[in-house]
Amino acid sequence: MTGSPFGPASHPETPDPVTARAYGKINAFLAVGPLQDDGYHDLVTVFQSLDLAETVTLVPAEDFSVTLSGRYADTTVPLDSSNLGLAAVLALAEATGTTIPVEVAIEKNVPVAGGMGGGSADAAAALVAYAHLIGCTDRDLIAEVARGLGADVPFALRGGTALGTGRGDELSPVLGRGEFHWVLATSTGRLSTPEVYRRLDELRAAGSSTTGADAGPGAGAAEADPADPAAVLRALGTADPEALAGALHNDMTDAAIDLLPDIAHVMDTGMRAGALRALVSGSGPTVGFLARDHTHALEIAVLLEASRGVRQVVRTTGPAGGAHLVPPPAAA
Ligand code: C5P
Repeated sequence: MTGSPFGPASHPETPDPVTARAYGKINAFLAVGPLQDDGYHDLVTVFQSLDLAETVTLVPAEDFSVTLSGRYADTTVPLDSSNLGLAAVLALAEATGTTIPVEVAIEKNVPVAGGMGGGSADAAAALVAYAHLIGCTDRDLIAEVARGLGADVPFALRGGTALGTGRGDELSPVLGRGEFHWVLATSTGRLSTPEVYRRLDELRAAGSSTTGADAGPGAGAAEADPADPAAVLRALGTADPEALAGALHNDMTDAAIDLLPDIAHVMDTGMRAGALRALVSGSGPTVGFLARDHTHALEIAVLLEASRGVRQVVRTTGPAGGAHLVPPPAAA
Protein backbone atom coordinates (compact mmCIF):
# COMPACT_ATOMS: atom_id res chain seq x y z
CA MET A 1 0.00 0.00 0.00
CA THR A 2 1.22 3.53 -0.69
CA GLY A 3 1.61 5.84 2.26
CA SER A 4 0.12 9.28 1.63
CA PRO A 5 -0.10 12.17 4.05
CA PHE A 6 -3.52 13.01 2.58
CA GLY A 7 -5.37 9.77 3.02
CA PRO A 8 -5.30 6.01 2.94
CA ALA A 9 -3.64 4.19 0.05
CA SER A 10 -6.96 2.74 -1.03
CA HIS A 11 -8.16 6.20 -2.04
CA PRO A 12 -9.33 5.86 -5.66
CA GLU A 13 -6.92 8.57 -6.82
CA THR A 14 -3.91 6.78 -5.32
CA PRO A 15 -3.57 3.38 -6.98
CA ASP A 16 -1.69 0.63 -5.15
CA PRO A 17 1.77 -0.36 -6.38
CA VAL A 18 1.79 -2.97 -9.15
CA THR A 19 4.56 -5.56 -9.63
CA ALA A 20 5.33 -7.53 -12.79
CA ARG A 21 8.10 -9.89 -13.81
CA ALA A 22 9.78 -10.74 -17.12
CA TYR A 23 12.73 -12.95 -18.01
CA GLY A 24 16.09 -12.82 -19.77
CA LYS A 25 16.72 -14.84 -22.93
CA ILE A 26 19.28 -16.66 -24.97
CA ASN A 27 19.35 -16.80 -28.76
CA ALA A 28 19.86 -20.49 -29.52
CA PHE A 29 20.11 -19.54 -33.18
CA LEU A 30 21.00 -16.13 -34.60
CA ALA A 31 21.57 -15.56 -38.31
CA VAL A 32 22.19 -11.93 -39.28
CA GLY A 33 21.32 -10.71 -42.78
CA PRO A 34 22.47 -7.50 -44.46
CA LEU A 35 21.94 -4.02 -43.02
CA GLN A 36 18.58 -2.53 -44.07
CA ASP A 37 17.77 1.11 -44.83
CA ASP A 38 16.20 1.54 -41.37
CA GLY A 39 19.56 0.85 -39.67
CA TYR A 40 18.52 -2.65 -38.57
CA HIS A 41 19.65 -6.04 -39.84
CA ASP A 42 17.22 -8.71 -40.94
CA LEU A 43 17.46 -11.61 -38.52
CA VAL A 44 16.42 -15.21 -38.26
CA THR A 45 16.62 -16.08 -34.60
CA VAL A 46 15.33 -18.63 -32.11
CA PHE A 47 14.73 -17.19 -28.65
CA GLN A 48 14.32 -19.12 -25.45
CA SER A 49 13.51 -17.31 -22.21
CA LEU A 50 15.63 -18.21 -19.17
CA ASP A 51 14.67 -18.44 -15.54
CA LEU A 52 16.43 -15.17 -14.64
CA ALA A 53 13.82 -12.63 -13.66
CA GLU A 54 13.64 -8.86 -13.75
CA THR A 55 11.01 -7.67 -11.29
CA VAL A 56 9.52 -4.23 -11.80
CA THR A 57 7.32 -2.51 -9.21
CA LEU A 58 5.49 0.68 -10.15
CA VAL A 59 4.82 2.86 -7.15
CA PRO A 60 2.50 5.83 -7.77
CA ALA A 61 4.46 9.00 -6.98
CA GLU A 62 4.53 12.75 -7.58
CA ASP A 63 6.84 12.33 -10.56
CA PHE A 64 8.42 9.68 -12.80
CA SER A 65 11.70 8.15 -11.56
CA VAL A 66 13.73 4.91 -11.63
CA THR A 67 15.42 3.03 -8.78
CA LEU A 68 17.52 -0.16 -8.94
CA SER A 69 18.14 -3.12 -6.65
CA GLY A 70 19.13 -6.77 -7.08
CA ARG A 71 22.23 -8.71 -8.07
CA TYR A 72 22.96 -6.64 -11.19
CA ALA A 73 22.01 -3.17 -9.97
CA ASP A 74 25.05 -1.30 -11.23
CA THR A 75 26.06 2.21 -12.07
CA THR A 76 25.99 1.67 -15.85
CA VAL A 77 22.19 1.32 -15.92
CA PRO A 78 20.68 4.72 -16.80
CA LEU A 79 18.23 6.31 -14.38
CA ASP A 80 16.69 8.73 -16.88
CA SER A 81 14.14 8.23 -19.65
CA SER A 82 16.68 6.14 -21.61
CA ASN A 83 16.10 3.43 -18.99
CA LEU A 84 13.94 0.90 -20.85
CA GLY A 85 11.64 0.35 -17.84
CA LEU A 86 10.85 4.05 -17.58
CA ALA A 87 10.78 4.45 -21.37
CA ALA A 88 8.13 1.70 -21.52
CA VAL A 89 5.93 3.43 -18.94
CA LEU A 90 6.24 6.81 -20.71
CA ALA A 91 5.52 5.24 -24.12
CA LEU A 92 2.37 3.50 -22.87
CA ALA A 93 1.23 6.68 -21.07
CA GLU A 94 1.61 8.58 -24.33
CA ALA A 95 -0.07 5.90 -26.46
CA THR A 96 -3.08 5.70 -24.15
CA GLY A 97 -3.25 9.35 -23.11
CA THR A 98 -3.39 8.21 -19.47
CA THR A 99 -0.61 9.50 -17.28
CA ILE A 100 -0.16 8.36 -13.68
CA PRO A 101 3.38 9.26 -12.49
CA VAL A 102 5.24 6.32 -10.92
CA GLU A 103 8.56 5.35 -9.43
CA VAL A 104 9.83 2.44 -11.56
CA ALA A 105 11.61 0.17 -9.05
CA ILE A 106 13.63 -2.45 -10.93
CA GLU A 107 15.12 -5.54 -9.27
CA LYS A 108 17.79 -6.70 -11.71
CA ASN A 109 18.73 -10.36 -11.82
CA VAL A 110 19.71 -10.53 -15.48
CA PRO A 111 23.33 -9.55 -16.25
CA VAL A 112 23.54 -5.96 -17.55
CA ALA A 113 24.56 -5.32 -21.19
CA GLY A 114 25.39 -8.98 -21.61
CA GLY A 115 23.23 -9.92 -24.59
CA MET A 116 20.72 -11.53 -22.21
CA GLY A 117 17.80 -9.18 -22.85
CA GLY A 118 17.64 -7.72 -19.32
CA GLY A 119 16.70 -4.20 -20.47
CA SER A 120 14.04 -5.65 -22.76
CA ALA A 121 12.67 -7.67 -19.83
CA ASP A 122 12.48 -4.44 -17.79
CA ALA A 123 10.47 -2.85 -20.60
CA ALA A 124 8.13 -5.85 -20.91
CA ALA A 125 7.50 -6.10 -17.15
CA ALA A 126 6.96 -2.32 -16.93
CA LEU A 127 4.45 -2.46 -19.80
CA VAL A 128 2.44 -5.23 -18.15
CA ALA A 129 2.49 -3.43 -14.79
CA TYR A 130 1.60 0.00 -16.18
CA ALA A 131 -1.16 -1.43 -18.38
CA HIS A 132 -2.69 -2.91 -15.21
CA LEU A 133 -2.24 0.32 -13.27
CA ILE A 134 -3.98 2.49 -15.85
CA GLY A 135 -6.55 -0.15 -16.83
CA CYS A 136 -5.33 -0.65 -20.41
CA THR A 137 -6.45 -4.01 -21.83
CA ASP A 138 -5.67 -3.32 -25.51
CA ARG A 139 -3.18 -6.12 -26.28
CA ASP A 140 -2.52 -4.89 -29.82
CA LEU A 141 -1.62 -1.44 -28.55
CA ILE A 142 0.70 -2.90 -25.88
CA ALA A 143 2.37 -5.09 -28.55
CA GLU A 144 2.85 -2.06 -30.80
CA VAL A 145 4.40 -0.04 -27.96
CA ALA A 146 6.68 -3.02 -27.18
CA ARG A 147 7.98 -3.08 -30.78
CA GLY A 148 8.74 0.62 -30.64
CA LEU A 149 10.91 0.13 -27.54
CA GLY A 150 13.38 -2.39 -28.98
CA ALA A 151 13.73 -5.45 -31.18
CA ASP A 152 13.83 -7.89 -28.24
CA VAL A 153 10.94 -6.40 -26.24
CA PRO A 154 8.13 -8.31 -28.02
CA PHE A 155 9.85 -11.60 -27.14
CA ALA A 156 10.34 -10.56 -23.50
CA LEU A 157 6.59 -9.89 -23.39
CA ARG A 158 5.78 -13.33 -24.79
CA GLY A 159 8.56 -15.54 -23.33
CA GLY A 160 8.83 -19.30 -23.82
CA THR A 161 10.40 -20.35 -27.11
CA ALA A 162 9.85 -18.46 -30.36
CA LEU A 163 11.20 -17.94 -33.86
CA GLY A 164 11.95 -14.28 -34.58
CA THR A 165 12.29 -12.75 -38.06
CA GLY A 166 12.45 -9.17 -39.37
CA ARG A 167 14.34 -7.19 -36.72
CA GLY A 168 13.79 -10.21 -34.49
CA ASP A 169 10.42 -8.79 -33.42
CA GLU A 170 8.13 -10.74 -35.76
CA LEU A 171 7.48 -13.80 -33.64
CA SER A 172 6.11 -17.27 -34.32
CA PRO A 173 5.58 -19.66 -31.43
CA VAL A 174 7.79 -22.76 -31.28
CA LEU A 175 6.92 -25.98 -29.51
CA GLY A 176 9.50 -26.49 -26.79
CA ARG A 177 9.69 -29.61 -24.64
CA GLY A 178 11.56 -30.27 -21.43
CA GLU A 179 14.10 -28.08 -19.71
CA PHE A 180 17.60 -27.06 -20.80
CA HIS A 181 20.38 -26.33 -18.31
CA TRP A 182 22.73 -23.42 -19.00
CA VAL A 183 25.72 -21.96 -17.22
CA LEU A 184 26.23 -18.30 -18.08
CA ALA A 185 29.58 -16.60 -17.70
CA THR A 186 29.40 -12.83 -17.68
CA SER A 187 32.50 -11.06 -18.88
CA THR A 188 34.69 -8.47 -17.21
CA GLY A 189 34.39 -6.42 -20.42
CA ARG A 190 31.34 -4.81 -22.00
CA LEU A 191 30.00 -4.66 -25.53
CA SER A 192 27.51 -2.31 -27.15
CA THR A 193 24.97 -4.07 -29.38
CA PRO A 194 25.10 -1.54 -32.26
CA GLU A 195 28.90 -1.71 -32.16
CA VAL A 196 28.91 -5.51 -32.52
CA TYR A 197 26.51 -5.28 -35.50
CA ARG A 198 28.78 -2.64 -37.05
CA ARG A 199 31.88 -4.79 -36.57
CA LEU A 200 30.10 -7.76 -38.14
CA ASP A 201 29.36 -5.63 -41.22
CA GLU A 202 32.99 -4.50 -41.34
CA LEU A 203 34.34 -8.04 -41.01
CA ARG A 204 31.99 -9.26 -43.72
CA ALA A 205 32.97 -6.38 -46.01
CA ALA A 206 36.61 -7.32 -45.46
CA GLY A 207 35.75 -10.97 -46.13
CA SER A 208 37.05 -12.03 -42.73
CA SER A 209 33.91 -13.07 -40.86
CA THR A 210 32.99 -16.68 -41.13
CA THR A 211 29.52 -17.68 -40.15
CA GLY A 212 28.94 -20.62 -37.91
CA ALA A 213 31.95 -19.90 -35.74
CA ASP A 214 29.93 -19.91 -32.55
CA ALA A 215 31.38 -23.09 -31.11
CA GLY A 216 34.61 -21.32 -30.23
CA PRO A 217 37.87 -22.98 -29.48
CA GLY A 218 37.64 -26.53 -28.29
CA ALA A 219 34.07 -27.15 -29.40
CA GLY A 220 33.64 -30.47 -31.03
CA ALA A 221 30.02 -30.33 -32.12
CA ALA A 222 28.98 -30.41 -35.77
CA GLU A 223 28.12 -27.04 -37.35
CA ALA A 224 24.56 -26.08 -38.14
CA ASP A 225 23.65 -24.58 -41.50
CA PRO A 226 23.92 -20.89 -40.57
CA ALA A 227 20.78 -19.82 -42.43
CA ASP A 228 18.57 -22.65 -41.25
CA PRO A 229 17.19 -22.84 -37.71
CA ALA A 230 15.47 -26.19 -38.38
CA ALA A 231 17.95 -28.27 -36.38
CA VAL A 232 17.64 -25.97 -33.34
CA LEU A 233 13.84 -26.07 -33.57
CA ARG A 234 13.90 -29.89 -33.78
CA ALA A 235 16.25 -30.17 -30.79
CA LEU A 236 14.17 -27.77 -28.67
CA GLY A 237 11.13 -29.87 -29.47
CA THR A 238 12.74 -33.15 -28.40
CA ALA A 239 14.32 -31.94 -25.13
CA ASP A 240 17.66 -33.37 -26.32
CA PRO A 241 20.62 -31.28 -25.06
CA GLU A 242 23.16 -33.18 -27.19
CA ALA A 243 21.15 -32.45 -30.35
CA LEU A 244 20.72 -28.82 -29.30
CA ALA A 245 24.47 -28.53 -28.69
CA GLY A 246 25.15 -29.56 -32.30
CA ALA A 247 22.66 -27.05 -33.69
CA LEU A 248 23.40 -23.84 -31.68
CA HIS A 249 24.54 -21.00 -33.90
CA ASN A 250 25.38 -17.29 -33.61
CA ASP A 251 26.59 -15.16 -36.57
CA MET A 252 27.75 -12.42 -34.17
CA THR A 253 30.41 -14.55 -32.50
CA ASP A 254 33.40 -13.43 -34.61
CA ALA A 255 32.52 -9.75 -34.24
CA ALA A 256 32.06 -10.05 -30.46
CA ILE A 257 35.41 -11.88 -30.07
CA ASP A 258 37.10 -9.35 -32.34
CA LEU A 259 35.98 -6.52 -30.03
CA LEU A 260 36.58 -8.45 -26.80
CA PRO A 261 39.12 -11.26 -27.27
CA ASP A 262 38.65 -12.51 -23.67
CA ILE A 263 35.38 -14.06 -24.89
CA ALA A 264 37.37 -16.74 -26.76
CA HIS A 265 39.26 -17.54 -23.57
CA VAL A 266 36.03 -17.84 -21.59
CA MET A 267 34.56 -20.14 -24.28
CA ASP A 268 37.67 -22.29 -24.21
CA THR A 269 37.56 -22.55 -20.41
CA GLY A 270 33.92 -23.66 -20.41
CA MET A 271 34.56 -26.26 -23.10
CA ARG A 272 37.53 -27.63 -21.13
CA ALA A 273 35.20 -27.77 -18.10
CA GLY A 274 33.10 -30.22 -20.11
CA ALA A 275 30.26 -28.09 -21.52
CA LEU A 276 28.36 -29.61 -24.44
CA ARG A 277 28.76 -26.34 -26.33
CA ALA A 278 29.66 -22.67 -25.88
CA LEU A 279 27.43 -19.98 -27.35
CA VAL A 280 27.87 -16.22 -27.29
CA SER A 281 24.54 -14.87 -26.09
CA GLY A 282 23.08 -12.42 -28.64
CA SER A 283 25.65 -9.67 -29.21
CA GLY A 284 27.62 -10.80 -26.15
CA PRO A 285 29.72 -10.68 -24.14
CA THR A 286 27.93 -13.20 -21.91
CA VAL A 287 28.72 -16.77 -22.95
CA GLY A 288 26.18 -19.56 -22.40
CA PHE A 289 27.40 -23.11 -21.82
CA LEU A 290 24.93 -25.89 -22.45
CA ALA A 291 24.98 -28.69 -19.88
CA ARG A 292 23.47 -32.19 -19.97
CA ASP A 293 21.60 -31.75 -16.70
CA HIS A 294 21.58 -30.00 -13.33
CA THR A 295 24.64 -31.86 -11.94
CA HIS A 296 26.64 -31.28 -15.11
CA ALA A 297 25.80 -27.56 -14.91
CA LEU A 298 27.07 -27.45 -11.32
CA GLU A 299 30.40 -29.03 -12.36
CA ILE A 300 30.90 -26.57 -15.22
CA ALA A 301 29.98 -23.61 -13.00
CA VAL A 302 32.57 -24.53 -10.36
CA LEU A 303 35.36 -24.73 -12.94
CA LEU A 304 34.35 -21.47 -14.60
CA GLU A 305 34.23 -19.51 -11.32
CA ALA A 306 38.01 -19.28 -11.16
CA SER A 307 38.57 -18.37 -14.81
CA ARG A 308 40.29 -15.21 -16.05
CA GLY A 309 37.94 -12.79 -17.83
CA VAL A 310 34.87 -14.18 -16.06
CA ARG A 311 33.03 -11.74 -13.83
CA GLN A 312 30.15 -13.86 -12.62
CA VAL A 313 28.83 -17.35 -13.20
CA VAL A 314 25.10 -18.00 -13.14
CA ARG A 315 23.20 -21.27 -13.53
CA THR A 316 19.78 -21.13 -15.12
CA THR A 317 17.25 -23.14 -17.09
CA GLY A 318 14.98 -22.49 -20.05
CA PRO A 319 12.32 -21.99 -21.09
CA ALA A 320 10.77 -19.51 -18.65
CA GLY A 321 7.47 -17.69 -19.20
CA GLY A 322 6.45 -14.32 -20.53
CA ALA A 323 5.90 -11.04 -18.69
CA HIS A 324 3.25 -11.37 -15.99
CA LEU A 325 1.83 -9.60 -12.99
CA VAL A 326 3.13 -10.72 -9.61
CA PRO A 327 0.25 -10.81 -7.15
CA PRO A 328 1.02 -9.48 -3.66
CA PRO A 329 1.58 -12.42 -1.25
CA ALA A 330 -1.74 -11.97 0.54
CA ALA A 331 -3.81 -11.63 -2.66
CA ALA A 332 -6.32 -14.35 -3.46
O1 C5P B 1 16.13 -2.50 -31.11
P1 C5P B 1 17.28 -2.33 -30.16
O2 C5P B 1 17.29 -0.98 -29.50
O3 C5P B 1 17.45 -3.45 -29.21
O4 C5P B 1 18.58 -2.38 -31.09
C1 C5P B 1 19.78 -1.77 -30.70
C2 C5P B 1 20.66 -1.58 -31.94
O5 C5P B 1 21.09 -2.87 -32.42
C3 C5P B 1 19.95 -0.96 -33.14
O6 C5P B 1 19.97 0.45 -33.07
C4 C5P B 1 20.77 -1.47 -34.30
O7 C5P B 1 21.97 -0.75 -34.41
C5 C5P B 1 21.15 -2.88 -33.84
N1 C5P B 1 20.22 -3.90 -34.37
C6 C5P B 1 20.32 -4.27 -35.69
N2 C5P B 1 19.46 -5.20 -36.22
C7 C5P B 1 18.52 -5.80 -35.42
C8 C5P B 1 18.42 -5.46 -34.05
C9 C5P B 1 19.28 -4.49 -33.55
O8 C5P B 1 21.18 -3.75 -36.43
N3 C5P B 1 17.70 -6.70 -35.97
